[in-house]
Amino acid sequence: MNTLVSKINSELKRIFVDNGYNETLAFISSSNREELADYQINSCFSIAKELKKNPMEVADNLSSLIKDIQIDGIKAFSFCESCKPGFINLKLNDKVLFLNIRDIITDDNLFINGENILPKDAPKCILLDYGGANVAKPLHVGHLRVAVIGEALKRLYNRLGIKTISDVHLGDFGLQMGLVIEGLKDENKVDNFTTGDLEIIYPKASLRAKGDVNNNVEPDIDFSNRAHETTKKIQDGIEPETSIWKRILKLSIEDLKKRYAELNVFFDYYYGESTVKDIMGPMVDELIKNGIAYESNGAYVIDVKNDTDKKEMPPCIIRKSDGAVLYATSDLATIKYREDNFDADEYVYVVDKRQSLHLEQCFRASKKAQLLKKDKKFYHVAVGTMNGPGGKPFKSRDGGVLKLEVLINDAKEKALKQLIDNNRDLSGIDENDTARKIGIAALKYGDLSNNPTRDYIFDIDKFLSFQGNTGPYILYTLVRIKSIFDKLDNININAVLNIDCDDIIHKIFLKAIRYEEVLLEAYNNYDPSVICKYIYELSNDFNSFYHDHSIINEKDNSKKEIYIIICNVVDRLIRDALSILAIEIPDKM
Ligand code: ARG
Repeated sequence: MNTLVSKINSELKRIFVDNGYNETLAFISSSNREELADYQINSCFSIAKELKKNPMEVADNLSSLIKDIQIDGIKAFSFCESCKPGFINLKLNDKVLFLNIRDIITDDNLFINGENILPKDAPKCILLDYGGANVAKPLHVGHLRVAVIGEALKRLYNRLGIKTISDVHLGDFGLQMGLVIEGLKDENKVDNFTTGDLEIIYPKASLRAKGDVNNNVEPDIDFSNRAHETTKKIQDGIEPETSIWKRILKLSIEDLKKRYAELNVFFDYYYGESTVKDIMGPMVDELIKNGIAYESNGAYVIDVKNDTDKKEMPPCIIRKSDGAVLYATSDLATIKYREDNFDADEYVYVVDKRQSLHLEQCFRASKKAQLLKKDKKFYHVAVGTMNGPGGKPFKSRDGGVLKLEVLINDAKEKALKQLIDNNRDLSGIDENDTARKIGIAALKYGDLSNNPTRDYIFDIDKFLSFQGNTGPYILYTLVRIKSIFDKLDNININAVLNIDCDDIIHKIFLKAIRYEEVLLEAYNNYDPSVICKYIYELSNDFNSFYHDHSIINEKDNSKKEIYIIICNVVDRLIRDALSILAIEIPDKM
């Protein structure tokens, strides 16, 4: 909780205790009617009920005591009034608000301390499973959301003082590996291939094995069988397939690291399904031995259904009738591996919502199989689909899956064109690098500003706009502030004494002290869009302040000092928020 608010709450508590009111009800809440009040007290109704009094009588009594509350020797409220049927409306005194702002901007950490805001039983360490790239397959648009949302959550946890372990959990053990290796063999490229080759070979091999009914392409059964056999060979460690596979893995990981870095996404571990290849077999044997897994039509399964389930909850299959392992087996063994090697208190999976059932089965199976050292929470951030115009899943021009690289390049090119067309003054800066930052900010912010679980329509032209809730609009606010700073001398913030706040300044200061509430809400809801909404509103407020005030030419020094502090606090907050969202900021645009 903000230090000012917590100081007020402890004063309130004293008043409540003195009056025989229930002290657990002694707190102020943000007002839901900005124009009327900053904060309100809603507890008069509960107090009245407990003490069999009239709520309005309680509100009248409380407000007469609250109006004189002092914080650090200054009156806390400029306005404190009871109103029917039993609320109390409060407006913070500008001076007290300002002193709190001054504390915030003079602190490197903006006075954010997770320990003060998180619940007492919050996890100390969270393991995040996000990204989920597949080796030898190019990253496609579906991989954008899980990567950027996962990265933002990771940084949010760190910002709140929670340790994280991040793992990309590569798909590196499935049929795609067999397909690619057989494709490489047929093209005589086994000894000499690049990531470019792999990206061409995979879709070709996949099409060849599956066929395409729409275009009258028959499946190549012989090729498909070879791919399956090769996949099994890799899983059993047979040569030379295993060595080829290892080379593909190494090359792919190097390439993936570069691509994720371009999005400012970084993982502690590039583990994959294959990391647990030696754990899977013995784990399944053990589960069969102790009766957790049982045979069903030749396969081995674990029942995960509960009496309370409303939706279908089929058993979790962990060994196929031919002895092969499945996606669930590797996820289950991965949980075991993570339990053995890390000490996380919670697991957060940022994965496409279409995998909800699979993950729920795995989470339940892991508890049933007692793979966990202690009871802990699993949470699936069930990520919605990114759709193209018209609300249909995003496709490339020829109807295939759109590669992420194509999307990123398009955003960068459009950002560059926009800079050139608008005749921006970019003297002395690298245009391409600026366009890269703007393009990627547009892409990421367009994604992050939507609730993770909801589908959204990807519209790069809208995302690149300098107006509205977009990345470029937020960046532009910062660039504007920077250009003000460039024209000003530094001021000594601690020397500012004369406080003269008009409505918009009051509004900005008030919003500033709510930043930690916003981070907490984003944390509780696993939702970075809460942070986007906040910086968007803050940018709007700042920009209306900017239009109504002449900052650089202000003659009254005490006013000018406040204006500079406004610029300072808005700048610091938005920069902090963007570092959580992992969005880079250009100097000019
Ligand atoms: N590689 C998977 C895919 O592309 C996503 C992996 C998600 N994480 C997990 N632990 N299953 O669909």
